[in-house]
Amino acid sequence: MDGSAPVAKMPKTAKERGKIAPAKLAHVVLRTPPERAHMVLDWYKVVLEGEAMYEADFGGFVTYDDEHHRIAVLGFPGIKEHIDGYAGMHHVAFTYEKLADLSHTYFRLKEENILPEFCINHGPTTSMYYFDPDKNQVELQVDNVPEEKFAEYFDNGEFSANPIGVKFDPEDLFKRLEAGEAEEDLLQRPEGAPPDLSEFPAN
Ligand SMILES: [Fe+2]
Repeated sequence: MDGSAPVAKMPKTAKERGKIAPAKLAHVVLRTPPERAHMVLDWYKVVLEGEAMYEADFGGFVTYDDEHHRIAVLGFPGIKEHIDGYAGMHHVAFTYEKLADLSHTYFRLKEENILPEFCINHGPTTSMYYFDPDKNQVELQVDNVPEEKFAEYFDNGEFSANPIGVKFDPEDLFKRLEAGEAEEDLLQRPEGAPPDLSEFPAN
């Protein structure tokens, strides 16, 4: 790898590149102790503004769009508690249409005492990382770069110079949005050094 991102310049989909690939990313299934299944399920309903497509004693399926479920929570007897630092999935990310939607969601969740653990402008995205009740990490984000400009963005050197990003204060960012600053300006990655990776929640 030389740090460039040639895929950004290729035909957009794997199908257009002559490959047979999944039609979509369908869902994520989480396991949890049975007594916590509905607490976890409810957290995802709140965070994602979702509804239960199906719910039973063992857990349930949450949908917020035309997919039958995006998140499923299953209570399994004997599940052990989360331990930080194991290899495996780091987080699941959900993209909002615009910064105003991310701002709305931040304040809506704050009312529920659900706050992000870590906020960072990666360059390609403005991202807030939350922990669910089992300490699975959920990223709520917006794309900073329009799709047609991905190739240009990855060529401009910003990401290669700092592929982690620059932290931001959500209160400050969203106040500036409310005060009338343009989304496209607020989505620009601020000047600053990347955080130490140890600051990034590893869960
Ligand atoms: Fe992510």
